[in-house]
Amino acid sequence: MLKEPDLSLFDMLVGPPPLIREDVGKRHLVAAYPAPYHGSRNHLRLLIQARRDFLWIWRRKDYGNSYNQMRLLGRQVVVVNAPEGVKQVMASNHENYERKSPQMRRALEYLLGDGLFISDGATWRQRRPLVTDIVHKNRVPQFGRVMEVVTGEMAERWAQLPPGTPVNALVEMASLTAEIISRSVFGNDLGHDNAVEVIEGFSSYQRLIDSLNIGYFLGADEGWPVWRTPRLKAAVGRVHRVIDKVIDDHMAGRGDHEAMVDLLVRRQQKNPELGLDRQALRNEAATIFMAGHETTAATLTWAWYLLGTAPWSEKHVLREIQEVCGDRAPTVEDVPNLQYCRAVIEETLRLYPPVPILARQAKAADRLGPYDIKPGSLVMVVPWLLHRSHDLWENPHHFMPDRFLTGRPTPYTYVPFAIGPRICPGLQFGLTEAILCLAILIQRFRVRVVPGTKVEPACRLTLRPRGGLPVTVERR
Ligand code: HEM
Repeated sequence: MLKEPDLSLFDMLVGPPPLIREDVGKRHLVAAYPAPYHGSRNHLRLLIQARRDFLWIWRRKDYGNSYNQMRLLGRQVVVVNAPEGVKQVMASNHENYERKSPQMRRALEYLLGDGLFISDGATWRQRRPLVTDIVHKNRVPQFGRVMEVVTGEMAERWAQLPPGTPVNALVEMASLTAEIISRSVFGNDLGHDNAVEVIEGFSSYQRLIDSLNIGYFLGADEGWPVWRTPRLKAAVGRVHRVIDKVIDDHMAGRGDHEAMVDLLVRRQQKNPELGLDRQALRNEAATIFMAGHETTAATLTWAWYLLGTAPWSEKHVLREIQEVCGDRAPTVEDVPNLQYCRAVIEETLRLYPPVPILARQAKAADRLGPYDIKPGSLVMVVPWLLHRSHDLWENPHHFMPDRFLTGRPTPYTYVPFAIGPRICPGLQFGLTEAILCLAILIQRFRVRVVPGTKVEPACRLTLRPRGGLPVTVERR
């Protein structure tokens, strides 16, 4: 089924948004995606389209096993969509591509400083083991309790909703995962007002920031600094004030000892040579907070869309939960046994990778596939394209969780958490959280997309349904 977009005057000048393809059958679902781009490859037009949405510029051939080169205002941009190229960029020649794109660095530096997500070189090498250890899979059972409690609280709130009340699943999931990561990073005693302050500060920062840095395409290798408007300053101020206070408390020995921030502070106190001052501690705490909730919220929102639209798969999920948990609520200990739920989440991450573009700035000259790479070029691995490649996946746009039950994807074809030395350190935390939250909520509630909703993927810092996802929540 093709959905007609609404056209504005602007659309008529630069080209309309793409049609959204979706096909809902009794036993199959072609999940919503924008039809490939057919328009002109004129630089300005491409840039404008990319600025409106990065998902709109891909042609059918970009989805194949390929390397593609574009020039945007003179800047070399290479898209790597072949597994051996992905390996080269993310793993075997990682050092040449460890630097994040100026788009990403400039967009986040005001909020995160030199936090792990955007750092490189010596800072990244020093901090990476520290952060990895703090969010390590061995600690996941401890944080699993937080996940159970917070999701249980949300279930109680949902249970009070009058039947048929529409809610925005994206907002619901964002507040769920923000609460989980907030209690995990800052501890249980952060307090409601402070939690709201941090969560709202982060979301208004995201709304205000523009992640396409034109300066970079116009020749500035480091991109242009983001203009610090009063509203942006206010958003950053809200986040930093709360985090600084939490860090001061933890440094003075007050605060929840189970919190990630406490682990960071204690590491520094034990090893002063780490040189983590208050600002560095704040940057890492803010980074874990940001990286750790947007992504899982987007995953869960897409899972509600997919399961609500594919009741045959939802039935399988419910059967499995019944077999593993009976009538009691799922816990973190059940997660390894919820194999089909896991497959649903993995398939969701394939179709809608929350980080749809992994963009790097080449340090030195290199050769990738047929192209000579110049220093300073933008090299992109695009999980959105790789995961939907018709050369690598059978029925790439179909929702088919079973594909993850019968085997593992070929190496370097499935990278929702990236791969190589910069792989997401929160992989186990994020996967466990998505499976557990989904299992707890779906056991008690039937979630359905409000009829008539146009579900359309939109690429901002994360991949989310444009305008959110209106759903109804009904008790089972
Ligand atoms: C479904 C959930 C998640 C997904 C899909 C995801 C995905 C990713 C991806 C793709 C990257 C690499 C980005 C790049 O190289 O450009 C990344 C990095 C990172 N993630 Fe996650 N993530 C998730 C959850 C989490 C959680 C729960 C945490 C923390 C508790 C976390 C912490 C981080 C950090 C600190 C980095 C930066 C690592 C580095 O640059 O060395 N993530 N994540």
